[in-house]
Amino acid sequence: MSAAGAAGPAGHGQPSGPSAGGLRTDQAPPLSIPASFFLVAPVAMIASGVLLASSDVVLVSRLMPFAMAATHLGTLGFLGALMLGALYQMIPVVAGVPVPWVRLAHVVHALFVAGLGMLVAGLALGTPTLLVVASIALLAALLLFLGPVAVALVRAPATNETVWGMRLAVVGLMAIAALGTVMARARAGIVEVGGDWRGWVSAHAVLGGVVWVGGLITAVSWQVVPMFYLTPPLPRWSCWATLAALGLALLVVPSVLLVGGGPAGVLVGAVPALVMVWWVHPIVTLRAIHRRRRRRADGSVRFWWAALSLAPLVPVLAVGAVLGSDERWSVALGWCVVWGWAGMIGHGMLTRIVPFLVWFHRYAASVGVLAVPSMRALLPDARIRLALWLHVAAVVAGLLAIVTGSALFARGAGVLLVVTGVALALNLVRTLLRRTVTATRE
Ligand code: HEM
Repeated sequence: MSAAGAAGPAGHGQPSGPSAGGLRTDQAPPLSIPASFFLVAPVAMIASGVLLASSDVVLVSRLMPFAMAATHLGTLGFLGALMLGALYQMIPVVAGVPVPWVRLAHVVHALFVAGLGMLVAGLALGTPTLLVVASIALLAALLLFLGPVAVALVRAPATNETVWGMRLAVVGLMAIAALGTVMARARAGIVEVGGDWRGWVSAHAVLGGVVWVGGLITAVSWQVVPMFYLTPPLPRWSCWATLAALGLALLVVPSVLLVGGGPAGVLVGAVPALVMVWWVHPIVTLRAIHRRRRRRADGSVRFWWAALSLAPLVPVLAVGAVLGSDERWSVALGWCVVWGWAGMIGHGMLTRIVPFLVWFHRYAASVGVLAVPSMRALLPDARIRLALWLHVAAVVAGLLAIVTGSALFARGAGVLLVVTGVALALNLVRTLLRRTVTATRE
């Protein structure tokens, strides 16, 4: 470790201390809060892989109980946990205001994990009681999360595009949780829902996949891609057009439901957002990454390349899922969005954000005083690339299983998802366990 080794975030041309690159890092929450949510993600990936490897039906029909369970391990367990942790971390940094009562996050974490476990078991085993208790625990977790986060987002002095994207995504999360709770109670036979059940499921899936997941990842990318890779800023027209499309989906989709509409009506409301998030965003982001000033292509850049290359498939699969009769359209759609596009971006960002947070919380104050490791030394690129190739192999095997109907590919995809989850867990734990340096002066 040498002074050069001390080239952490500060050495990357960003001033260290409370405001890095104009971002307020002094208001960041304690590391344990985002870290506790980030650690749920690999566990959910492993559990989803085990479900896939132990059953032939998960990638055959989305309506199978195991498929529903695997869907929520991916959407809530992997993506949901990542995104809750990221919001706790990024709102103070990007919006310039701390999340109030941030220690509530530990209660949110406990309720979220318990609710998720019960939802997955309830969907897999078809047990009404578990479904109802799960929806109550999840609703409580999300309300305890959304309250403080909403206060912060309303109070935020910064009104940049990312803050508006976060606001829309968070409203989307509330709508999904409300729909999911009603659907869980309907599945348990406690309530009856009006209109077309497929309309409910599509509205729930679109608000989840397009507004919450698609909206938040796109909005956050407008900050992190220029910040991490020193790219030019992403074009403002694409940001505002995306925000307008997400707002439209948030307005139209629930209205379709109110009038008893079905999947086709839901799709109409989602088309502009589908185009902006999965056709326009990949083009403008790949162009920006191509023009980046930091030329070294680390593992996390490659995760962006892989995910953005897969993205243009999503709108095609969405139209096929609604207008086509073959089940494979909707299974492929779920697989591409959850483990493909969003899963790879989430995985890639974890490999960048976690070493940054550990460096910032444990080493930043020692720069120039003690020999501190570089961010790269906290999580070597070779380990990130191994996890990347495992993740890509899992996504490809899953797609082959869906297209061919082959049980062998499906189980292979399950095993690869388990191994990817283990690689991710080891990378996160190894980085989070790095302790502060000993008092040796250079
Ligand atoms: C509070 C949290 C949630 C609860 C209680 C919940 C509950 C449910 C229920 C009961 C179903 C219907 C199952 C059936 O038809 O039998 C369902 C389906 C679904 N949920 Fe959730 N959900 C939640 C959150 C989410 C999130 C955050 C996402 C996405 C980001 C999501 C994505 C889906 C999808 C894609 C389906 C449809 C599966 C299909 O038929 O293809 N859910 N959910």
